[in-house]
Amino acid sequence: MNESIHPGLEGITVAETRLSHIDGENGELVVCGFPIADLATNATYEESVFLLLHDRLPTADELAAFRADLASRRDLPDEVCAVLRRAAAEETPAMDALRMGIAAANLGPEGDASAANAAGADDSEALARRLVAVVPTIVATYWRYRQGATPVEPRDDLGHAANYLHMLTGDEPDDAAVRGLETYLSTVVDHGVNASTFTARTVVSTESDLVSAATAAVGSLKGPLHGGAPGPVLEMLRDVHELGDPAGYVKGKLAAGERLMGFGHRVYRVRDPRASVLESAAERLYAESADGDFFETVREFEAVAVEALADHSPDRRLDTNVEFYTAALLDGVGIPKELFTATFAVSRVAGWMAHCLEQRADNRLVRPDSRYVGATDREWTPADER
Ligand code: COA
Repeated sequence: MNESIHPGLEGITVAETRLSHIDGENGELVVCGFPIADLATNATYEESVFLLLHDRLPTADELAAFRADLASRRDLPDEVCAVLRRAAAEETPAMDALRMGIAAANLGPEGDASAANAAGADDSEALARRLVAVVPTIVATYWRYRQGATPVEPRDDLGHAANYLHMLTGDEPDDAAVRGLETYLSTVVDHGVNASTFTARTVVSTESDLVSAATAAVGSLKGPLHGGAPGPVLEMLRDVHELGDPAGYVKGKLAAGERLMGFGHRVYRVRDPRASVLESAAERLYAESADGDFFETVREFEAVAVEALADHSPDRRLDTNVEFYTAALLDGVGIPKELFTATFAVSRVAGWMAHCLEQRADNRLVRPDSRYVGATDREWTPADER
């Protein structure tokens, strides 16, 4: 038996994938052959999803058909809306509401993969497209209820990003906000075998289904060490913007033994390349906004924090991760901070689905070993003698 232990599976390669490649030493991320900056600044979200599913960019006709197909799968059954209404009334956090909603994604005609199959489409891919299409509707419907407002019907004349913004606000989406969100969605669409993606792959490795995989992945994404960081990042940045003194704030946190949200990464030993893409997108957005001085605070905070972390942790380089500029960009786009992690899921569900289909195509049940360190040679005593 192999006795070496790998907590967190660090450094263990568990799959071959054509989907994304991370070079943590050099700070590079490639998605289906494209450096992340090229993909995220050029692609619509639909193009990124098509690329993940088909390993090539769509032609113009294919893209139009793909957009229309996703748009046709956005509706929620009334029963799911009722669950989201109840979740909102109880002030259930957005990720819990999403977990409840996504678990029912195969209810109703849009979720019925067998109907899609009868029309000639592949069963699993149809369900994958349903999951990608419906996550924004779940999040936006929940949010409208949280606001005491009526849910906004999805509009099939709008692209994925624009429609999500429209369903959140009921307004005609602003072009700059749509482009900012589009960049965000493609930037985080896939990222190797992170915790939620590994969770999804593990579920389908048992020959379970895509809805179960996505539901489990949402649970995994929720934690602050994975997708839960950008909300706290925004709170931290807004506090510092109001109170000033970023250096004092950072010093105080580190002296108290707390972690700075938005910094550090399991794989990257340099600045996360997604931080640079999102920083540029946020810069463009804030240049046209009345909140431009907030973005100056964001940049100042980053510089101060990276320097302080280098002093604090000289042996382990801690640099800016994706969540730092996610907070600034999504705030600028108009996404409420309560929905930051759920908006991460709006994007990443496509990566989960592509990984699940890849796992299925070359499956091996995920079943690692553990080393027993519990008691041995115990003798049983009946309950009335204990
Ligand atoms: N602030 C302060 N110290 C940090 C830190 C941070 N953001 N991230 C890591 N460290 C320190 C740890 O305290 C630890 O120090 P120690 O060895 O003295 O105990 C050391 O760096 C290594 O940390 P470790 O927990 O082993 O790293 P990891 O690979 O498991 O962690 C993260 C990666 C992302 C979980 C971690 O960097 C973190 O918690 N970041 C903040 C949350 C965040 O931004 N999450 C979003 C990730 S995209």
